[in-house]
Amino acid sequence: MSVVSKTDVPLEIIAAAQALEAGKLVAFPTETVYGLGADAENPQAVANIYAAKGRPSNHPVIVHIAPGADISYWAKEIPAEAEKLIAAFWPGPLTFILKRADHIPAAVSGGQDTVGIRCPSHPVAIALLSAFKGGKGGVAAPSANKFGHVSPTMASHVIEEFEQEVQSGGLIARVLDGGQSEVGIESTIVDLSRLATHGPVLLRPGHISAEQLAAVLGVIPASPDAAAPRASGTLDAHYAPHTPVVQVAVEELDDVVQQLQAKGKTLALMSYLAHPAIHADAWRHLPNDPVGYAHDLYAGLRELDHAHADVILVEALPQEKIWQGVNDRLRRAAFDSRDVFEKMLGN
Ligand code: TXA
Ligand code: MG
Repeated sequence: MSVVSKTDVPLEIIAAAQALEAGKLVAFPTETVYGLGADAENPQAVANIYAAKGRPSNHPVIVHIAPGADISYWAKEIPAEAEKLIAAFWPGPLTFILKRADHIPAAVSGGQDTVGIRCPSHPVAIALLSAFKGGKGGVAAPSANKFGHVSPTMASHVIEEFEQEVQSGGLIARVLDGGQSEVGIESTIVDLSRLATHGPVLLRPGHISAEQLAAVLGVIPASPDAAAPRASGTLDAHYAPHTPVVQVAVEELDDVVQQLQAKGKTLALMSYLAHPAIHADAWRHLPNDPVGYAHDLYAGLRELDHAHADVILVEALPQEKIWQGVNDRLRRAAFDSRDVFEKMLGN
């Protein structure tokens, strides 16, 4: 990247910030996954995110702000809980939901009276947010993937996902490359918009765990209730590759593989324990720890998807709390595949 003198902000960042200010879409890296950004206060730009993703317009998007930005611009009230979480975890992979300030367009929150806010820690994201509107703006950004598909953790994933839209004249003006996202799964989301009645609620588990939140908040955040704010990342079917994904217990793996191969099916395998006895058509081995696993999860699913096997088998992970974030994503990636798989086995 070339660097301009005085401000020391790379030209590419300045151009990206200007594109956002002009109402265009820019994909950018964060420490969790890549985001597809637009000026959060420009309803037409936000509508273009929905168009590019093929996402229903009643799904809210997260507003990203620069470190030190005035959060009270976005939210009606800032509870002490939010202040504590900001001090402990921002910039970082934590989003919270607050009551939306009246002047913020409803388009960013899918018409709900709340707003999701996060300050990411990736240096390219921070540079972009600091350059955009002089660090005072907000960038609405869902993950930079088609609705329901696997989130991108590399710039190449974004380009593969939006082939049409990144061509010149397409909906997406620029894709910033910041290397592979370190965390690899989307931010933890905590609802703080209904504290008086419900307390803090964990809407989406992530790298920052319920225990870490509890250590700061003094209470363990509750699981979502029926009236909790809607979150598309919490739909049952989400984060899914095109190939059906099925989780299989380690003890059953050999048996399932034999059954599939007897029926002439091709299979891809994502393992985290060694399985030298299994001859998969494609095989990806992930680290046996939740942080390393999360880092490689989406790139692994995308790679195995490219094998065009009949099914991606995922060695089921331990159900312990530390695996909650990745288990949540795998369960959603596999949600629609059960019936297909049963049919494949002829059951
Ligand atoms: O790590 C992340 O959060 C990434 C990066 C790009 O920052 N973004 C991301 O965005 O995962 P997305 O749109 O794919 O998921 C955002 C989630 C959705 O489930 C959305 O419904 C929820 O946040 N959300 C955003 N604003 C909300 C609101 N006002 N009320 C309830 N849920 C909200
Ligand atoms: Mg998403």
